[in-house]
Amino acid sequence: MKIAVIGSCMVDLIAYTDTVPKAGETLVANEFAMGCGGKGANQAVAASKLGADVLMMGRVGDDAFADKTLANFQEYGVSIEHVTKVPGVSSGVAPIWVDADSQNRILIIPGANMHLLPSDIDAAADQLKQCSMIILQLEIPLETVYAAIEFGNSNGIPVLLNPAPASTELDIDYACRCDYFVPNETELEILTGMPVENEDQIAAAASSLLAKGLKNLIVTLGEKGALWMHGDQRTHVTAPAVSAVDTTGAGDGFIGCFAAQLAAGADVETALGRAVSYASHSVTGKGTQTSYATADEFAAWQSES
Ligand code: RIB
Ligand code: NA
Repeated sequence: MKIAVIGSCMVDLIAYTDTVPKAGETLVANEFAMGCGGKGANQAVAASKLGADVLMMGRVGDDAFADKTLANFQEYGVSIEHVTKVPGVSSGVAPIWVDADSQNRILIIPGANMHLLPSDIDAAADQLKQCSMIILQLEIPLETVYAAIEFGNSNGIPVLLNPAPASTELDIDYACRCDYFVPNETELEILTGMPVENEDQIAAAASSLLAKGLKNLIVTLGEKGALWMHGDQRTHVTAPAVSAVDTTGAGDGFIGCFAAQLAAGADVETALGRAVSYASHSVTGKGTQTSYATADEFAAWQSES
């Protein structure tokens, strides 16, 4: 069965620089790269690279970036029947700075992504009903995210919500209706208004969501791995040590891999272990999708390390 990703497409314009400029300052950077990104597209491509059957639902603009995005999905075998162009609007674009410590700063210009509407979910209902999971992020209108959660709930399709980028506007009651809610620490802090400095604090913030009926909360912790909480169970999955070159899109690789593993029949704990490793591998390469391993590359890397 297919995994449906209902989410964003962006073109990433990445500058690799030792230092980032201050206001009024001009600096010379080291290198430029352009790649296909957007949290939704990244998650779709990661899952597809790992062998999952993926349907993408999204909107691109009316420019050269749109064609690049569509060709990229085709190259990776992602179904794009529901990725359409919006006339007179720019595609989503993300200027990104990656500094000498491999830390990134990202600006998102959503463009066409804001034209993916609740009515588009209804229009794709027949195909979505064939899917084993719906994956969502927050780079499309919140109303569309809510409509997708409702659609999944009423059709018995598991929903995974990755609340990125963090938004205080997100109605947490909708998030708690998802089968898997996957924030990072910062997003969890912003959404719950609770501190997340250590594992106990994270667990306390997480408990407030589980108390509202959320089934599975998975908090991604960067180089510290991930924490899975369900009911009164708490499982910490640790990450392998790697030397990071570019952490952009690691969280998306995590989600794509997690979904692909579940679709292939893995249990949650196994899927999480692989997803943490997959994200760790991705930070060793530049870019987002370009740094995601195929199933064979990932297996080879795991047997080496
Ligand atoms: O999560 C990384 C992604 O965030 C980038 O690809 C960029 O497009 C932004 O959406
Ligand atoms: Na990377």
